[in-house]
Amino acid sequence: MRHAIYPGTFDPITLGHLDVIARAAPMFDRLTVAVLVNSRKAPSTGTDQRLATIREALDEELGEAGRAVMVRAFEGLTVELARRLGAGWVVRGLRAVSDFESELQMAQLNRSMAPEVETVFLMATPEHGAVSSTMVREIASLGGDVSSMVPASVLRRLRAD
Ligand code: PNS
Repeated sequence: MRHAIYPGTFDPITLGHLDVIARAAPMFDRLTVAVLVNSRKAPSTGTDQRLATIREALDEELGEAGRAVMVRAFEGLTVELARRLGAGWVVRGLRAVSDFESELQMAQLNRSMAPEVETVFLMATPEHGAVSSTMVREIASLGGDVSSMVPASVLRRLRAD
């Protein structure tokens, strides 16, 4: 079975992430969105809330294909999670050249630790190229409109905060 994981902090999930998920899902028999629990980025939202928001976004925005995508939390190394799940691929999105350096480093280090796990990159579609979770948090915290950047499940959470 071709199983891929899509790891990230998802703080919060954006339409850019959803676009990567929608495009990656048909490439594999199973796709698992893997939410890092203890990121160095110190997520502003708890793990349970991030998991629930992602689940709702997949179910609401991606229909049948979204409902087939798994969501789980993880701690530790991405490649160890891949090994535990028997996943042979790690999916990552690339928005701009600025993403490339750190993604290349991560892919190369992951490869040196787990040569059997392949990293595949999907280029962001132009309309999502500038969207990042960091910018969404900043704009939302300053009262700006992020409705073109995040799914409805995130908007509901932001409005409830
Ligand atoms: O959405 P993000 O924050 O850009 O995702 C980064 C993530 C979670 C994919 C990366 O930090 C990661 O894989 N962390 C788990 C720890 C790990 O495996 N580190 C070594 C990577 S070389």
